Amino acid sequence: MLHNFVTATYVVSGVLFILALQGLSKHETAKRGNAFGVLGMILALVATNFAMGWTDISGDGADLVAVLLLVVAVGLGGVIGVRKALKVEMTGMPELIALLHSFVGAAAVLVGFNSYLDAPHANSFHLTEVALGIFIGAVTFTGSIVAWGKLNGKIASKPLALPGRNWLNLAALVAIIVLTVVFVQAPSVLWLVLITVISLLLGIHLVASIGGADMPVVISMLNSYSGWAAAFSGFMLNMNVLIITGALVGASGAILSYIMCKAMNRSFISVILGGFGDQAAVGPAVEGEHTEMSAQEVAEALAEAKSVIIAPGYGMAVAQAQYPVAELTKAMEANGTQVRFAIHPVAGRLPGHMNVLLAEAHVPYDIVLEMDEINDDFADTDVVLVIGANDTVNPAATEPGSPISGMPVLTVWDARKVVVFKRSMSAGYAGVQNPLFFRENTSMCFGDAKATVQAILAAMPQKAIG
Ligand code: TAP
Repeated sequence: MLHNFVTATYVVSGVLFILALQGLSKHETAKRGNAFGVLGMILALVATNFAMGWTDISGDGADLVAVLLLVVAVGLGGVIGVRKALKVEMTGMPELIALLHSFVGAAAVLVGFNSYLDAPHANSFHLTEVALGIFIGAVTFTGSIVAWGKLNGKIASKPLALPGRNWLNLAALVAIIVLTVVFVQAPSVLWLVLITVISLLLGIHLVASIGGADMPVVISMLNSYSGWAAAFSGFMLNMNVLIITGALVGASGAILSYIMCKAMNRSFISVILGGFGDQAAVGPAVEGEHTEMSAQEVAEALAEAKSVIIAPGYGMAVAQAQYPVAELTKAMEANGTQVRFAIHPVAGRLPGHMNVLLAEAHVPYDIVLEMDEINDDFADTDVVLVIGANDTVNPAATEPGSPISGMPVLTVWDARKVVVFKRSMSAGYAGVQNPLFFRENTSMCFGDAKATVQAILAAMPQKAIG
């Protein structure tokens, strides 16, 4: 009876996780998707507590201790998690995610050891699961810690370039395969310890070889690894819900990494193997004169414009300018101007970063368009406001010889007028200079994006603010 209840609840949780992913794929349904995910997780936790031996509580009491331990652990973890989630800035999200992945990796390693010590004479299939689970868990654990360190500056973001690093990775992989075979033939904890140590070192090396600039793709890759680690834990624990969840996270993380790689013109394979993003970020030197515009002048240009496209980027997030941007949008719409947003797939520092910020400021979804949907419309646009974006609007990407060559970009320069909001002439994330700033139809509006947009709002003709 209890077994049926637990199994049925796991199936329901699995379905809820699938619905959660489906919901999260669209703005309109994202909140609902999130709610499905939370509900699925609560059900899975409750069922797991029951599975841990609720029925035996009245018996010898031993399982009561297990249940109590679980409840305390879930409670403690929940409190720490909620506190962290409430405190974290959107820009600090990749760092937090990296840390959370490291927990999944560590858990998979512990589950692996526990599973072996619990049944040291299990069949070959189970022993292979144990070795693979420990391998992927250990790689995820140290890889995520290094990624976390690089993101928060505790570890130098410069890529580590050991001589023959690909050979080192290959040697580690071969050693792990050989040790796995030996472990399955003649099980001993010694082989598991060796697999763990080599995997931990491999995780460090794989991520340390990647430049800090490309860390968000690595985070998404580690997300996928953590999913597979959880799926292996599910096999070891014979827990279907963990297998389903792990596979969903593993597959969606891999798809996301692929999309990000494509949007950044990176090779997916080189991310998996570690060691990309190591080319010095240089590009052809850009020379020329730039022109500047004051907030007052921008306000006047916007009051005249029939169509405006806003291309936001990381700087909008740093400045938290989304709220005045939303107000400015309303003011322009009240003035009869068509306003739309152009979202580059890797604008900001994590997928969907800009969409989340704009949704937070209640910008209607239907005027927020993806790059492919809007790129052809720039030519028919009066004014483009580039708010804290740089690499994603860099025309150097369309020419050979630059580290971002081949990366699809928003072709903002096709518009009649482009105004770039940033604090200086410095390069963006990729460290590449941006020739857009020197184009004839481009003007710079220097300053913090939030203060600049507020100043423009204040300077908008009364009719526009209406
Ligand atoms: P960036 O190229 O990083 O440019 C952001 C610009 O914002 C900077 O040039 C900076 O110039 C400006 N800025 C910073 N703080 C500001 C503030 N308070 N007020 C006004 N401006 C400010 O951003 P992007 O165009 O969004 O491109 C994203 C980059 O991240 C791409 O290179 C992309 O490949 C990379 N990346 C993104 C992702 C995802 S998934 N989103 C993943 C991996 C990599 P100043 O310092 O002069 O102000």
